[in-house]
Amino acid sequence: ADLEREKLIEAHELTAKLYNYLLKNTTHGQQAMAYLRNRGVTDKQIDHFNIGYAPREWDTLVRFLDQRKFDLALMEKGGLIIAKNDGSGYVDRFRERIMFPLWSREGKTIALAGRLMGEGQPKYLNSPETRLFNKSRNLYNFHHARVDMRKHRRVVLFEGYMDVIKAWSAGVNNGVASMGTSLTEEHAALLQRNVDEAIICYDGDNAGMAAALKTIPLLEKTGLKVQVAVLPQGMDPDEYIEKHGANAFMREMIEHPVSATKFKLIYAKKNHILLEEEGRKDYLLEAAGIIAALDSPIEREIYLKDLSREFDIPIEVLKQDVFHHREKSY
Ligand code: UTP
Ligand code: MN
Ligand code: MN
Ligand code: MN
Ligand code: MN
Repeated sequence: ADLEREKLIEAHELTAKLYNYLLKNTTHGQQAMAYLRNRGVTDKQIDHFNIGYAPREWDTLVRFLDQRKFDLALMEKGGLIIAKNDGSGYVDRFRERIMFPLWSREGKTIALAGRLMGEGQPKYLNSPETRLFNKSRNLYNFHHARVDMRKHRRVVLFEGYMDVIKAWSAGVNNGVASMGTSLTEEHAALLQRNVDEAIICYDGDNAGMAAALKTIPLLEKTGLKVQVAVLPQGMDPDEYIEKHGANAFMREMIEHPVSATKFKLIYAKKNHILLEEEGRKDYLLEAAGIIAALDSPIEREIYLKDLSREFDIPIEVLKQDVFHHREKSY
C-alpha cells in the first residue's frame, strides 16, 4: 500500500473537519460565518460542501497535525503547511480564509481552496499541485455530481466554487467547476465518459465568454453536445441566484441554454457596432463563417433564416457567402 498517500489523505480529511469545526463553533469563526451568511450561504450548503474557516494564527494546523503525529515534512509536500525560510519549522498555508475542501473522484479530500473575506490577492488560494491533486484532471464537485451526471447524461460547467454551491441549492445536482484554470482535454475526456451533453454556465463577463468560446470545441471534439447558458452582462451564476432567486436561475438560465453556434453568433455580435454599416457588414461576414462551419444543411438553413430576417438581406445572398466559405475549407 502507498502509505504516504494514505497519510496525506487522512491529514486532508482531518484538516477539512477541523476547519469546519472552527467555522461553526468558535468566536473567530463567527465573523467567517457572518461573511457566508451575508453571501447567502446556508447551513445546508456548509454541511454538504464541508465549508470551513482557517484562523488567523500562524500555526493552528501545524500544531494540530504535530499533535496527531503526522510527519510535518510530508505535510509540507502535501501543501497543507509551509516550511519557514530559516528552517526553524513550519507555518500554516491557509490563514484567515473561508475554506473549501476539494475532493478526488472517490470523494476523498485531496486539496483545499481558501477565500479571503475581504479584498486582496489572491482572492482564492488553492493547494499546490501534489501527488494527490492535479488541477488539470480534477473538477470541483465531480464526485457529488457524478450520480446525477450519469443518470441524466448531462453536466453543467461552472467557473467557480460559489457557483457550484449556489446552483446545487437551486437544484443543479450535476454542476462541476474547473477552478480558475481553463478546461483541459483531460477534463473533457473525463466528462465524455459520463455524459452526452454539457451546458457551459460561465460568468457573464468578457473573461467568462472568452473561456466559453475556447471550451466549446474542446468538448465538441469528444463528441459531446454543447450548449451555453448566457448570463446577463457582468453577472456570474452565484450573483444571479442571489439577485433573482433559484427558480429564475433554473427557468431562465439552465433550462434555456443556447446552442454553441448561437453562442458564437452572440459573441461575434458583441464585438461589432451594429449601428454602423461597417460593423454590420463585418458581423455578417463573421456570422457567415460561423454558420458555414456547420455540417448540417438544415442547421445552416435555420441560422441563415434568422440572420436574413434580422438584417433584411435575402437568404440567397447569405447562402452565397456561406458557400464560398465551405468551398475554401474543402
Ligand atoms: P472568479 O473570479 O469568477 O471568482 O473566479 P468567483 O468564483 O466568482 O468567486 P467569488 O464569488 O468572488 O467568491 C472563478 C474561479 O477561479 C478560481 C476559483 O476556483 C474561482 O471560484 N480562482 C479565482 C482562483 O483559483 N484564484 C483566484 O485568485 C481567483
Ligand atoms: Mn437531475
Ligand atoms: Mn470569473
Ligand atoms: Mn465568478
Ligand atoms: Mn462569484
